[in-house]
Amino acid sequence: MELLPTNQAINTLAVDTIVISLFQGDTTFDGTSQTVNEATSGLLQEHVTHHEFEGNLLETLTFHSPAGLKAKHVIIVGLGKSADFDSVVARKAAAASIVEAKKLRSRSVATVIHGETRKEADVQQLSQAVSEGLLLGNYEFNRYKTKDQAQRAKQTITQCLLVNNPNTTIESLEQGIKQAEAICAAVLNVRDIINEPPSKIKPVNLVEVATEIASLSDSISLTVLDKSQLEKEGYNALLAVASGSEEPPYLIHLTYKPQGARKKVALVGKGVTFDSGGLSIKPWSAMLSMKSDMSGGGAVLGIIQALAELEALGTPVPVEVHGIVVTTENMISGKAMRPDDIIETKSGKTIEILHTDAEGRLILSDGLTYASLLKPDYMIDFATLTGAAIRALGRSYAAFMGNDRALLDTIGQASQQTGELAWELPLPDEYKKQLESPVADLQNISTNDYSPGAIFGGLFLQEFVNDVPWAHIDIAGPSFADEVTNPVYTKGGTGYGILLGLETVRRLVD
Ligand code: BES
Ligand code: ZN
Ligand code: ZN
Repeated sequence: MELLPTNQAINTLAVDTIVISLFQGDTTFDGTSQTVNEATSGLLQEHVTHHEFEGNLLETLTFHSPAGLKAKHVIIVGLGKSADFDSVVARKAAAASIVEAKKLRSRSVATVIHGETRKEADVQQLSQAVSEGLLLGNYEFNRYKTKDQAQRAKQTITQCLLVNNPNTTIESLEQGIKQAEAICAAVLNVRDIINEPPSKIKPVNLVEVATEIASLSDSISLTVLDKSQLEKEGYNALLAVASGSEEPPYLIHLTYKPQGARKKVALVGKGVTFDSGGLSIKPWSAMLSMKSDMSGGGAVLGIIQALAELEALGTPVPVEVHGIVVTTENMISGKAMRPDDIIETKSGKTIEILHTDAEGRLILSDGLTYASLLKPDYMIDFATLTGAAIRALGRSYAAFMGNDRALLDTIGQASQQTGELAWELPLPDEYKKQLESPVADLQNISTNDYSPGAIFGGLFLQEFVNDVPWAHIDIAGPSFADEVTNPVYTKGGTGYGILLGLETVRRLVD
């Protein structure tokens, strides 16, 4: 979908669908809604007066063939209370509107920049948020639906005009569109990779994706450790998880090094391209969607792709970012790691395997050791680590935890700005006893009935960070949507973590 800024008045546009918005309780119109109301001889006024539309957040009302306009449909989307309006609301409203426009089989859409700010300073941020909502809400993964492909192609939205407010410049609006296009290219690419079936995306395919990303910019370099190098260098935790699979594991290391970088950040992602549970095998229903167990790795790849796209736009983020993805399958075979096995990790610490399905923390132990050897200022890992994080916070929120107050606060602020919800959990020393194994340095699960699973995962990872300021983001919940609760996220892989991670990295230099 192409996004284009325009200075033309919305009522003059010959598009399939026009999108306007109203705050809760708006009964007198101004700006675009007034223009549309006047052109349609009071159509909006009539419906608002009769309480058919109240402006509640994400409420929509559609008018068909409105007299007085060239467009075939008008969608009004509610923005909620004006006091609560921000770019997160604008992003969601835009996503909700494009979902509606799709149902109308529109090919072309024109939308206002929600909130219709008159402040030049806010235009870019809002137009970016609206553009992101449009691009993310319009996503569909349908390449394996063979029926009606031709019809489907005819029904996609190809163009969306963003209508500029006469009081502000179109340049800021255009900048916002460009930023959104750069970032969303990465998010949509990662959604595709998550949604592809697990026989199509294996560890070697993540290496291919990393190779493509590296080719986007001269500031990016790629190092890949293959199985023999992992063996030579003692990445035994990653190798142990991979031992039950026919597919070889890899450690992928992308380095984005722009000129004048002011900080060094290492991002580490869990890239399990399919998690069967291993010998401690999952029941069938829990194994569904385990193609998405590489979403943390996907987020890390997506962040590096977004950095490359932003650099190409002439707006580079001045941070040296290392994207490390530890990737393998977790499968069963006669060669698979066994419960009771003890592995010696790259760090030197030994782990007793009690449960082969707690594999993410094993491969991340080696990934975090690799990252800490780069001596970064900060380290953040992204992982679909525990079902417990979903049970604690539901699908909407990631759980994050770590050892550095300033870094955690930065993640919290980035979450607020991007709308990628995240909630902090503690890492109390008094639970560390649960990590102790009778035969090794650590055990990979707790045997305590009331162990807090997501926190245990965090405490386990903390053993491998070597005092680097670090945060762990457990994205098991928001990485995959079983149902749509937020129009920004379509069903399936969400690409969660790219907006959050990118904004966090940006803020670490400010
Ligand atoms: N990949 C799963 C976690 C997961 C579960 C992600 C559901 C997304 C949705 C992870 O490897 C796992 O299996 N964790 C176990 C840990 C347990 C054995 C301590 C879990 O959460 O059940
Ligand atoms: Zn598992
Ligand atoms: Zn897993």
